[in-house]
Amino acid sequence: MPFTKFLSCIKCLAVASAVAVAAGVAFIYSGFYPMGADDRHTALTFWALETLRERSIARASAGIEVPANLDTPERLLAGGADYNDMCAGCHLKPGRTESDFTLGLYPVPPNLTQVAPGRGDPEAQARHRFWTIKHGIKASGMPAWAPEHDDERIWNMVAFLRRLPDLSPEQYQILTARGSADSGHH
Ligand code: HEC
Repeated sequence: MPFTKFLSCIKCLAVASAVAVAAGVAFIYSGFYPMGADDRHTALTFWALETLRERSIARASAGIEVPANLDTPERLLAGGADYNDMCAGCHLKPGRTESDFTLGLYPVPPNLTQVAPGRGDPEAQARHRFWTIKHGIKASGMPAWAPEHDDERIWNMVAFLRRLPDLSPEQYQILTARGSADSGHH
């Protein structure tokens, strides 16, 4: 390719990308983006956001060490009571298929009483969940719980989530009941 032709090609690309950036900024300022939670993402936006979240959390949680005693009854009981108090309104419980939050929030809070799609091995799933509960998820209804809850308390909820899809409404009731000595506040 002669040099002058090469140069004009570069110029052409620079102009095209400047136009694309300007169009993007103009769109942001235009107010035409639909912001309502009752307006669903396009398939492409949905894919981009899901992939962004999955890749980001997989990377951020890769180094987390899962406690060896995750499946002890103590963790299950402590995690169950916390789950019922703080999470069931959005993530449901056995026998409950919807709430105001699952109907109105977008992204929709996943129903954690159903078996979740795997993330490789159970350890990777546990790390992913621990990180998500600790840090929350931007621009979604999922809060970060770390400011008020220490790591042990979060692991207890991760332990409970492992068992949640197997529980009947009665078993759930028993496992999430709080003893009178434990008010649930630290
Ligand atoms: C106000 C609603 C709300 C509350 C309360 C809430 N969450 Fe969430 N949670 C969400 C939403 C919404 C998402 C999905 C965000 C997304 O799709 O990007 C989510 C995602 C998650 C995920 C990731 C699920 C997955 O496998 O992808 C976990 C785990 C989770 N929440 C656990 C909890 C726990 C444990 C609690 C209680 C301590 C809790 N959440 C409280 C709304 C909530």
